[in-house]
Amino acid sequence: MRRARILGTGSCLPQRVVTNAELATRLTTSDEWIQQRTGVKERRYVDDGIGPSDLALTATNRALDAAGLKASDIDFIILATQTAEHEFPGTACFLQKKLGNSGVGALDVRDQCTGFLYGLSIAEAFVQLGKYKRVLVVGTEVHSTGLDFSDRSRHITVLFGDGAGAVIVGESESADRGILSTHLHADGKFAEELWVPAPGSIYPGRITHKLLDEGMHYPFMNGKAVFVEAVTQMINVSKEALSANGLTPADVTHFVPHQANLRINESVAQRLGIPSERCDSSITRYGNCAAASVPIAFDERVRSGAVKEGDIVLMATFAAGFTWGAAVMRW
Ligand code: COA
Repeated sequence: MRRARILGTGSCLPQRVVTNAELATRLTTSDEWIQQRTGVKERRYVDDGIGPSDLALTATNRALDAAGLKASDIDFIILATQTAEHEFPGTACFLQKKLGNSGVGALDVRDQCTGFLYGLSIAEAFVQLGKYKRVLVVGTEVHSTGLDFSDRSRHITVLFGDGAGAVIVGESESADRGILSTHLHADGKFAEELWVPAPGSIYPGRITHKLLDEGMHYPFMNGKAVFVEAVTQMINVSKEALSANGLTPADVTHFVPHQANLRINESVAQRLGIPSERCDSSITRYGNCAAASVPIAFDERVRSGAVKEGDIVLMATFAAGFTWGAAVMRW
């Protein structure tokens, strides 16, 4: 079977930096609390009128440049987001319009912070089967327009930022190089531990004044349950992914976990036995960018020249759903 590999990476972060000190002017919080509990120092917010498809467009163009390709070379689009631009159609269609490649399939993935890995896995399968030659996978989020800046949600609002990351997946010229495997999981019994209840088709009228007054259109999170499950499942899925390829944590050159909380990632890396310098910590600068966190972090590593041919890359994510997953690749 063909092997798929990432041909190019790109990312896009809005210019506007929002520090913890700035958030402390809108919420009862402090730089000290946020850094100590989450590791976040600052995050980025879009300017008014910029949507996830705009960030995705820039990230995609950078990934295309890196791969030496044009938009017309993409033959399938996969876009992962938990902050859809509109109720429907999917954000992938808005991105496709901006890319100007009418006619190619455009799929939205709704697996929140694990969405990028679900998308990568679908792209891998399409390329392996020979169904498509070059598949765009982009994770993109605009959280800032949907956060609750009241104290009720201060444990959530301080976490999130805006951004996008993209990869182009195509056929590898070598059987040894590329995506070695992807591993996806979910457990819907935790669906209401981290969610945005409204608007929804379960409610007559989708959204009501009552739902708005109750703040049901904002994220709700049982932070402690998320923390415990995130550590457990990211360790489990990382071990599963490595052992499926006859690898151990000692083989990992770059560990790129989802960026939800620095303490989660430090705990996962330490318990796996991966040295902290091999573990990405871009959450300090960008907060949690959900589906965009892993491709942003990976793009930065690639562009810095840190990722060398033959390096083993381990990606692992955890998200609302709960969903979680991992990917292992040889660069
Ligand atoms: N600033 C200051 N104080 C805050 C605060 C904030 N932003 N948010 C909460 N607090 C306060 C609480 O009111 C509480 O005060 P009390 O002890 O007087 O009642 C105290 O801090 C502890 O709150 P709690 O929510 O129990 O904190 P925590 O230790 O669980 O940390 C998180 C909160 C969100 C950092 C942590 O639960 C977490 O990271 N969970 C995982 C989140 C995650 O990964 N989400 C995304 C998944 S994709």
